Amino acid sequence: MADNNGISYQRFTPADHAGLNRDEVLDFLFEHLDEYGDKREDIAKCMDYALSGAEGKGGSVSVARENDHVVGALILNNTGMSGYIPENILVYVAVHGSTRGKGVGKGLVQLAIENTRGSIALHVEPQNPARHLYEKLGFTNKYLEYRLTR
Ligand SMILES: CC(C)(COP(=O)(O)OP(=O)(O)OC[C@H]1O[C@@H](n2cnc3c(N)ncnc32)[C@H](O)[C@@H]1OP(=O)(O)O)[C@@H](O)C(=O)NCCC(=O)NCCS
Repeated sequence: MADNNGISYQRFTPADHAGLNRDEVLDFLFEHLDEYGDKREDIAKCMDYALSGAEGKGGSVSVARENDHVVGALILNNTGMSGYIPENILVYVAVHGSTRGKGVGKGLVQLAIENTRGSIALHVEPQNPARHLYEKLGFTNKYLEYRLTR
């Protein structure tokens, strides 16, 4: 599907990801998440979980392209839970530095929202401008996140 800026969006799921170039999208996320990223191996684990058909796992990988080059990517994981814990976590979204501010991030998050059942949680650092994108799409923040990191 192409929008009127010449950007095309694709969404890959456990049932349909034969056309996904896994390494291309991993390399893209590793580079363009900037300081909000993780180790490549951790992004790879998240992608494998999203594309897993195992009970309780799954999710989606969405990719935006312009002239055949990846300009944005998003990974959503299902939690396997509902009610007391949201059904989904939006783990990663990034847009190429030279393509930001043109609606690609919004397009990717909207694609994930429209094709996903249940609530979507995410966490974002307080100073990350990505907050503006999430808030414009209706995400609210009621909680502080605490972690016991080990
Ligand atoms: C966050 C990110 C994905 C946004 O992508 P983008 O394509 O630039 O965002 P969009 O152009 O779709 O913007 C969507 C909305 O958010 C707003 N927005 C986005 N970035 C903003 C910023 N830095 N300051 C203010 N508003 C901003 C836009 O104004 C737009 O609002 P509108 O729909 O009313 O015009 C991109 O900046 C990025 O890749 N950042 C680095 C990685 C990151 O932080 N990822 C999130 C944490 S995992």
